Amino acid sequence: MIFLKRIATGIKGLDELMEGGFPEGRTILVSGACGTGKTILSMQYLYNGAKMFSEPGVYVTLDERPDLIRQDVTRFGWDLRKLEEENMLQIIDGSIAKIGIPSEEEFSMPATGFDLDKLLLEIMHVTKRIGAKRVVIDSIPALGFNFENSNEIRKAILKLSYLLMRIGVTSILTSEIQEGANKYGKYGVEEYVVDGVIVLHYMGIGTQSNRTMHIRKMRATHHSEDLHPIEISEKGVTIHKIEEEYEDA
Ligand SMILES: Nc1ncnc2c1ncn2[C@@H]1O[C@H](COP(=O)(O)OP(=O)(O)O)[C@@H](O)[C@H]1O
Ligand SMILES: [Mg+2]
Repeated sequence: MIFLKRIATGIKGLDELMEGGFPEGRTILVSGACGTGKTILSMQYLYNGAKMFSEPGVYVTLDERPDLIRQDVTRFGWDLRKLEEENMLQIIDGSIAKIGIPSEEEFSMPATGFDLDKLLLEIMHVTKRIGAKRVVIDSIPALGFNFENSNEIRKAILKLSYLLMRIGVTSILTSEIQEGANKYGKYGVEEYVVDGVIVLHYMGIGTQSNRTMHIRKMRATHHSEDLHPIEISEKGVTIHKIEEEYEDA
């Protein structure tokens, strides 16, 4: 019998909902409305990978500038610069290439406009250089696909996840959706192409219990089908058990 290796996220409460982690080599979509914690969760996947499992990671940021991400996550006690110096993490900056401004980052996209193939080459190059096992692409909508042509988008995402599998990494892609929408990616095709879908929800105002998550799909995995309370705190993202009481509002 062949056992599928699991890639643990190290995120408290998450791995136990899916047989110990993501199936190795696969691509997982993390979707949710803005502010639901997609960026924090996916960076935490890489941070934990480096710190807990000695697995280097590559973070491709297309929405937010790397310097702001580094700054924001110091709140969680994560020193990304240190990991970058140790070659346990590399950030590829695709955030300002899209608007034609050259990046000051070591790894970035040329300012000559955005190009998926160039991005894939850069991901392959950086992944090989540090021996990365984990990749995050944040976010798919920021790749700037033509919204009208869902077939093209499907092909592009398929190509992306195929390539990520070929280079042997286990990846997270993020996608923006409206709360309550009955699709899991902005284009309504992402969820079919990927191997797993984790949905983050943020409803209501105030109180601690308004953040939840569920695993919509995880191929080759027996996973929880429940809605779980999640918390974003000074420790980053934590998934709570449904019946669990947790302090401080
Ligand atoms: N230190 C913190 N404590 C509690 N909540 C936080 C903290 N830092 C960020 N957040 C919450 O996380 C949100 C940002 O999460 P982020 O991962 O950037 O969302 P997304 O990428 O889904 O838009 C903020 O809007 C805020 O609600
Ligand atoms: Mg984000």
